[in-house]
Amino acid sequence: MDCAVDCCAALSLVNMRLMKKYSPSAVFSRRDWGRAALAMALAPWSLSAQQALGAPGDAQSPVRWQSDPFALGVASGQPRADSVLLWTRLLVQEADAALNAQALPVQCEVFADEALRQRVGQWTAMTDAQRGMSVHIEAKGLLPARHYWYRFSCGSAVSPVGRTRTTPGAQNQVASLRMALASCQHFEQGFFTAHREIAQQELDLVLFVGDYIYEGSNPRYLLRAHQGGEPQTLDAYRARHAQYKGDADLRASHAAHPWVMTWDDHEVVNDYANDRDQKYTDPLAFLRRRAAAYQAYFEHMPVRVGPDAANPASMRIHDHMAWGQLADIWTLDNRQYRSHHACPDPIRGGGRVVTGCTELADAQRSMLGMDQERWLTQGLNTSQAAWKVVAQATQMSSTGLATPMGRSAFTDGWDGYPLARERFLQNIADAKLQDVLVLGGDVHMNVAANLRVQPNDAKSPIVASELVTTSITSRGMGETLAAQIRSNNPDIAHLRPDERGYTLIQITPQGVQSAFKTTANPAQPTSVFATQAQFTVQRGVAGLVKV
Ligand SMILES: [Fe+2]
Repeated sequence: MDCAVDCCAALSLVNMRLMKKYSPSAVFSRRDWGRAALAMALAPWSLSAQQALGAPGDAQSPVRWQSDPFALGVASGQPRADSVLLWTRLLVQEADAALNAQALPVQCEVFADEALRQRVGQWTAMTDAQRGMSVHIEAKGLLPARHYWYRFSCGSAVSPVGRTRTTPGAQNQVASLRMALASCQHFEQGFFTAHREIAQQELDLVLFVGDYIYEGSNPRYLLRAHQGGEPQTLDAYRARHAQYKGDADLRASHAAHPWVMTWDDHEVVNDYANDRDQKYTDPLAFLRRRAAAYQAYFEHMPVRVGPDAANPASMRIHDHMAWGQLADIWTLDNRQYRSHHACPDPIRGGGRVVTGCTELADAQRSMLGMDQERWLTQGLNTSQAAWKVVAQATQMSSTGLATPMGRSAFTDGWDGYPLARERFLQNIADAKLQDVLVLGGDVHMNVAANLRVQPNDAKSPIVASELVTTSITSRGMGETLAAQIRSNNPDIAHLRPDERGYTLIQITPQGVQSAFKTTANPAQPTSVFATQAQFTVQRGVAGLVKV
């Protein structure tokens, strides 16, 4: 199942369901730009845009907003060489509540310059309360490797301006890819100051690998509070996402760069696996909750494909993106299709630390599900790119400890799916793939590790390199356990759970340079970020080198 086919089919579905496009990939001549600029100078923007588009509906009686409907910001994501997904969601506040009963047209303009003089396209999408007033626009007809600026408008309201970037063309030789890797942003446990810095960095994209929201609370760590209890319903998940998007630093990070995203568990509930949660809720009931969480996720994210119309508890998040000839990037789904946890506690399910669990040796068990495994393997084995970047939610290297009962395994992570991990790494060895970089998050610590087919076995060759980013805010484990993991796992070159932050990664044809950018725990509104450690990977040589 290749994304080139699958995503197109899904995209046309999204387009049909969510967008009414009046100006497909409109490319304006210089005279048109001049006319548009003149019209914008002479009339209220929303009116001129609607008239230019010939949009139906209330062009003669534009919506007058009492409060800012663009308070959740704007975002872009899943860039391609000729397109990017642009997102916003209208926040209808109390004073405008009557608008919830209407379908509203939202305009989107894309510009080639920061001054917003060179408009290269404009689109109109209809939205309504059924889709949470969310807007997803696929801006097409763009040029490769270019920055673009965009904004939305609805009636009297105009959104902040976002900046985005297209990928290089598939055949282009590319000098570099510069990105920020981030994950795990518990709202209550710290401030999103890392995003303020990410917004200011010169980056090609932000790679976010999961735990964008948290459903739960830990009363021990409350720097600021979630509104409402643990979400179970679509409205509650919408409210949780909206609260996170209320953070100005997070909005700035979205507005500054395109995001490439996958999810982990907390977008739904801690440690869920496929159709099972920790409470062993009836699977049909849990899948209704998962459908609500996925729908709310889609409504708040710059992703191209939403829940499957025929099965709303299913939503494709895994994807492939090419960065010219420099890198192929796969973003994986570690949650939706995985086998249930091995050797679970019958009272409280989810992950736990086990020893002597024979179920771990079952080759049928999979972290990704067999379809996604095959899709990834086929993609890796046919990739012509210099670097093969596998971005997924969690740490792949082992964190097991030697105990009197045998080696321990934490069953929520890759140690809980050891033969699936072995299949992935053995394929790299068998296919003689070079320059595979695995990226992850989830564990709230910075990790740099070498990946061998047999973990920690010096006789097993290093076949890939791993970087795991610490959390934006979520608390990490204590140093005692961290030290035990380090001493039991020689493949791990670096492991620190004590700081919060993000990871800068620059990929060039010669190598990968990375820097863990961190601040003291917890992240404070005035935090400054320093370099905790730097690692490089040289092209053609698997394994990390400390700088
Ligand atoms: Fe997390």
